[in-house]
Amino acid sequence: MTEQLHLQPRLQLLADLVPQDARLADIGTDHGYLPVYLLQKGRIASAIAADIGQAPLDHARRTAQQYGVGDGLRFLCCDGLRGIGPEDADTVVIAGMGGETIVHILSQAPWTKAGSTLLLLQPMTKQEDLRRWLNENGYAQSAERLVRDKDYLYPVFTVFGGEQPPLSVGEIYGGVDIEVDPLAGEYLDQRIRRLSQAEAGLLKGSGSENRQRAEELGKIRKILMERRADL
Ligand SMILES: C[S@@+](CC[C@H](N)C(=O)[O-])C[C@H]1O[C@@H](n2cnc3c(N)ncnc32)[C@H](O)[C@@H]1O
Repeated sequence: MTEQLHLQPRLQLLADLVPQDARLADIGTDHGYLPVYLLQKGRIASAIAADIGQAPLDHARRTAQQYGVGDGLRFLCCDGLRGIGPEDADTVVIAGMGGETIVHILSQAPWTKAGSTLLLLQPMTKQEDLRRWLNENGYAQSAERLVRDKDYLYPVFTVFGGEQPPLSVGEIYGGVDIEVDPLAGEYLDQRIRRLSQAEAGLLKGSGSENRQRAEELGKIRKILMERRADL
């Protein structure tokens, strides 16, 4: 009997957010666990496992074989969404990468904001830069969910193409509509700690630019503290 793949909490949340019968593209698939799990569960109609590296794709192929879904997956070695279009996928997952890499990938694929493609984005870093970029470049964040994995909280953005009113500084740095999430308080605490550390680092340096930036971060930190207090 074929083994059942189990996912870590971060990937499980992403899997739970993929709609039934989706045509999935998993960009930066690495081990391939997400599409393999969804195929095993009969949750998706098709899957593309894409990665910029040949070694990660080989890993994904081995995962697919091990868990008996080798035929259901198309493997693509490419930078981001190059060679993938709306005819191939209605749901795109870009997870486990820096916010700047996710921006790079989406900016090369403007079709992702033209139709009804669902984007599930999970940045490891620069979350605020990604929120700001999406907001300023024709994407609308419809929800944000949080998950704890190995003592760290990760946000997962649900995004479609479309205009959205400008996000506030509190939303850019603290998340969009996270109040409904049971982990919202802890997430805001995490963000506040990060800002304090960045401020302290800047204040150790010399020069008025550093002081000015530290002051700006201090103002943002206070906004997040107010948001935290209102939960
Ligand atoms: C840390 S792994 C994340 C794997 C998986 N998505 C997850 O969330 O667990 C990042 C993967 O993204 C791939 N990657 C980085 N930049 C990429 C790009 N521009 N296009 C496609 N894949 C990329 C890397 O080769 C690596 O396999």
